[in-house]
Amino acid sequence: MKDIDTLNKSMATVAMTTQFMNDVDQGLSSKEKTLPSKYFYDKIGDALFVQIMHLPEYYVTRAEHEIFKNQSLEIISALNLDPDYYFELIELGAGDGTKTKELLKELTDGKYKFDYMPVDISQNALDNLETDLQDTLADVSVQTKQGDYFEVLQSLKENKRPKVILFLGSNIGNMDDETAADFISKLSNSLQENDKVFLGVDLIKEESVVLPAYDDSQGITAAFNLNLLTRINNELDADFDLGLFEHRPEYKESDGIAKSYLVSTTDQEVYIASLNKTFHFAKEEKILMEISRKYNDEILNTILSDTRFEIKTRITDSQKYFANYVLEVK
Ligand SMILES: C[S@@+](CC[C@H](N)C(=O)[O-])C[C@H]1O[C@@H](n2cnc3c(N)ncnc32)[C@H](O)[C@@H]1O
Repeated sequence: MKDIDTLNKSMATVAMTTQFMNDVDQGLSSKEKTLPSKYFYDKIGDALFVQIMHLPEYYVTRAEHEIFKNQSLEIISALNLDPDYYFELIELGAGDGTKTKELLKELTDGKYKFDYMPVDISQNALDNLETDLQDTLADVSVQTKQGDYFEVLQSLKENKRPKVILFLGSNIGNMDDETAADFISKLSNSLQENDKVFLGVDLIKEESVVLPAYDDSQGITAAFNLNLLTRINNELDADFDLGLFEHRPEYKESDGIAKSYLVSTTDQEVYIASLNKTFHFAKEEKILMEISRKYNDEILNTILSDTRFEIKTRITDSQKYFANYVLEVK
């Protein structure tokens, strides 16, 4: 049995590396170079993101945490949960679960019957979360699942148990509107009537608040972005010189989309041995590393328009920086 597990794990690792190679090749070969942000999260990236969440400039986590800390009972009521009926609590892109732990504690105190199922692309994040929950909330039944949340959607259909899906931290904002609409539509088709989604989105607001969140004074966000080049160096045998790329985020309130770029500070070539390919970077050429779309009701309604979801409730923090929506399958 152990041999089969080991074999399955190494096959999964080979598949992930092949996917990583293909995605890097495709992203760096396109006219406007880009790299998928889901690859930020290796062991170092996970730790850097935890640091980002504690930065004074990164209001996003604090605002959503305030909602979970002060309004957990309102969340439970808005989700229409009943202590007598079992449900699956599935979290997509759970990370370190700090905010979710506020809800898990309230659910445990209220003797609700549920399994908590965090999904994340990072096995390291899941391992840390599982250990943390064993120490701090030992009564919670935890079943982790490693994978891309697009792939997990199909498995949601496999049982008809009542489900609450948590999609927090404005993770949806890392998708462009077309991808987000496709994802939300697939999610709604994977769920049953009365299942719920608790969706956290960062709201559109002024540049003076948003931009520093992606350009902190300690340079942690820059290190987080550059770490993906280190990851390509280590895992795909590339020769990116990190000193020749500069982190440069952009945000305009009229667009409502923060964009993180790494900009080549000189004309240069980078060789990626696993691909046996050389990529040319002109001076000032940008690599788009991540988008963080900010939302309002209108944008969310457009994304939901072709789905079976209905907005039931909207909960915000005291500064109205962030909103959590309860979506119910009609
Ligand atoms: C920005 S962090 C947010 C974590 C958490 N949701 C929060 O609000 O604090 C994004 C998390 O989603 C995971 N992630 C990113 N893209 C993913 C994908 N395509 N599939 C599964 N997990 C993903 C990352 O590993 C990371 O833990």
